[in-house]
Amino acid sequence: MNSFIAYMGGKSLLTKKIIPKIPAHKCYCEVFAGAAWMLFKKEESEVEIINDINTDLVTLYRVIKLHLVEFIRYINWILVARDEFDRFKKENPETLTDIQKAVRFYFLLKSGYAARIDNPSFSVAVSSKPRFNLLRIEEELSAVYLRLARVYIENKPYETIIPRFDRPDTFFYIDPPYYDCEDYYGKGIFSRTDFTTLRDILSKINGKFIMSINDTKEIRALYKGFKIETVKTSYSAGGANKKKQVEELLISNY
Ligand SMILES: C[S@@+](CC[C@H](N)C(=O)[O-])C[C@H]1O[C@@H](n2cnc3c(N)ncnc32)[C@H](O)[C@@H]1O
Repeated sequence: MNSFIAYMGGKSLLTKKIIPKIPAHKCYCEVFAGAAWMLFKKEESEVEIINDINTDLVTLYRVIKLHLVEFIRYINWILVARDEFDRFKKENPETLTDIQKAVRFYFLLKSGYAARIDNPSFSVAVSSKPRFNLLRIEEELSAVYLRLARVYIENKPYETIIPRFDRPDTFFYIDPPYYDCEDYYGKGIFSRTDFTTLRDILSKINGKFIMSINDTKEIRALYKGFKIETVKTSYSAGGANKKKQVEELLISNY
């Protein structure tokens, strides 16, 4: 199935190239989950964990898993309108209940241009309908609710999550912010030096991992002790149907 949100850096297309490379495992841990395209596309594993440092995003997952009916009841009254978008954008998530927080985050992602997180802007197009579709929400989110029912949802930094779930039969999917785009998901959550810290943690694990990352000479040098492959993929480059072809690295320890 598909993820229920478009997300900056979402790996909807790359999953096709990575899934055949996932080794046998018992525990699946998606450390930088974002929209968790990999979780939604792959077969279910025996134990599954998704983690992200973004509390609003993780609240959305938790609310869909635990309070879907209330979430839908609230969102049913929202219009796709610029005023509504601006009102949500101005709200301070810390003053909201978890359900309000989840609705706000979901609405801003669904109605914003290019699914930007840091400073979203209202998206309108003459060539396509709004992505926020009240008529489909219940059906779409019910499927997500079922998929998340047996998934652990964590809200921790990667350096806590990886050692916590590391076992010989754990597989980690690692999809950090791109090199040179470290603060695309917010300031102060991931920095250039984290690529070194992450490498040091990954070089000590008992489990297996695949990391997807943009192809730069700095990343190649930092991760030269691991297996590095190049894969072609494409991304939306703004505007309807514009795709940009890029090469990404898949780095693994097996
Ligand atoms: C490239 S996106 C992941 C996209 C995801 N694979 C998908 O398909 O949607 C990177 C994610 O890492 C999260 N992140 C950034 N710094 C983090 C940290 N220190 N620990 C855990 N997650 C972090 C961001 O909030 C963002 O959601």
